[in-house]
Amino acid sequence: MAKTRTAYVCSECGAEHSKWQGQCAECGVWNTLSEFVVQPATKSAAVNPRSGYAGAVDAAKVTKLATVAAEAEQRSATGIAELDRVLGGGLVAGSVVLIGGDPGIGKSTLLLQMLGAIGQRVRGLYVTGEESLAQVASRGQRLGIGLDGLEALAETSIERILGEAAASRPDVLIIDSIQTIWTETLTAAPGSVSQVRESAARLVRFAKESGTSVFLVGHVTKEGGIAGPRVLEHMVDAVLYFEGEAGSRFRILRAFKNRFGAVNELGVFAMGDKGLREVPNPSAIFLSAHAQPTAGSAVMITREGTRPLLVEVQALVDQSSLGNPRRVALGLEQNRLAMLLAVLHRHGGAAVYDQDVFVNVVGGIRVQETAADLPVLLAVLSSFRDRPLPDKTVAFGEVGLSGEIRPVPNGEERLKEAATHGFRRAIVPKANAPKHSKLNQARVGEMEIIAVDRLAEALSAAS
Ligand code: TYD
Ligand code: MG
Repeated sequence: MAKTRTAYVCSECGAEHSKWQGQCAECGVWNTLSEFVVQPATKSAAVNPRSGYAGAVDAAKVTKLATVAAEAEQRSATGIAELDRVLGGGLVAGSVVLIGGDPGIGKSTLLLQMLGAIGQRVRGLYVTGEESLAQVASRGQRLGIGLDGLEALAETSIERILGEAAASRPDVLIIDSIQTIWTETLTAAPGSVSQVRESAARLVRFAKESGTSVFLVGHVTKEGGIAGPRVLEHMVDAVLYFEGEAGSRFRILRAFKNRFGAVNELGVFAMGDKGLREVPNPSAIFLSAHAQPTAGSAVMITREGTRPLLVEVQALVDQSSLGNPRRVALGLEQNRLAMLLAVLHRHGGAAVYDQDVFVNVVGGIRVQETAADLPVLLAVLSSFRDRPLPDKTVAFGEVGLSGEIRPVPNGEERLKEAATHGFRRAIVPKANAPKHSKLNQARVGEMEIIAVDRLAEALSAAS
């Protein structure tokens, strides 16, 4: 019989190495290799005499795709509209969804509420490896969930969980959390890369064979990846991240990968004493209420997923005492900020190279689209000059390296949203301004639109 061998897997990129080393040779990140036991293949693969490659000689068959009847996905609503939106329209039978997030963000609460909301239509099994059944039951009672049709199992052995699931055949299986699950076939400790990977692989196989929808809860490590690694992300059908700021009651569920729907779709919830409440109309919750215009604050209209959101971005620019001034971006990409500051210097005439620059997106939301470029620079410049932007002003637009302001998708929809919330001026890329106006000045509702082509124009419009 073939022997098992030990390999070392990088938790960042999933690369496999035969020896342990401090730095992953593939992605260059330090201290990410951990031991992984490779199981031998059960049968030695035959070599195909035609191609010379190993593989079954007569099992494979090529089919014309046009002759394959496309399968309509079996979707069922979860009963939580915000969750359905992020999943792309509800649960898909036989799919595996990974829900990641910091400990305490509300993953267990969300899934328990989902089981409660699905109710009697669907049979759910909640497997807990972290809490006792009594804890789960008392949380369920506090959340006001009817516990009658709900089944739970406190277990961490994958063999026993799958045995139980195969016997009771639930429609939805929740594993809370995948880091606590282990298999008897491996000697590594629970939570290690190999245990997590192997347990998840078995659950994926179970989902595909049985048609059960499986949810895996995964805690995120300090570095931001799901512990026991990126490897999980490509094994599952959808990866949802639960985000939020400590101290804020708002929680954002974001699809990071989705085989059955759009990515970057957001679901917004508020955590209260009765668990998570949906926020169906979140467009203005990421604004902080300033009594007066404040220096260093700008409001952007971002469009994450399919809805426009008004989000405040704050900047603090201050004389640096360091040779190497600090650039800190929270909720934005760090490199993007560095690039924008260089453009600001070159094309906006503001020299911030000897200044510390801190930028923060309010409410713990992460903004990924380039429409945030212009508002970020407006906030930075406003703090640098210690002069607030004109009251009730919003902005969006991508900033290019040569100082041009580029359009972003869905301009009119963003403008309408800002107008409904009582904003009076919008600084936007020229191509995003309403088409019918010949002049640079147009209106949407009560709002004055200032269309700009170059960064310098935008900066002077804002001062
Ligand atoms: P939980 O779902 O246990 O987080 P996770 O599974 O992601 O680790 O959420 C726990 C937090 O949520 C805890 O800090 C308390 C808070 N919470 C409420 O504020 N209200 C509630 O009704 C519940 C159930 C939890
Ligand atoms: Mg939990």
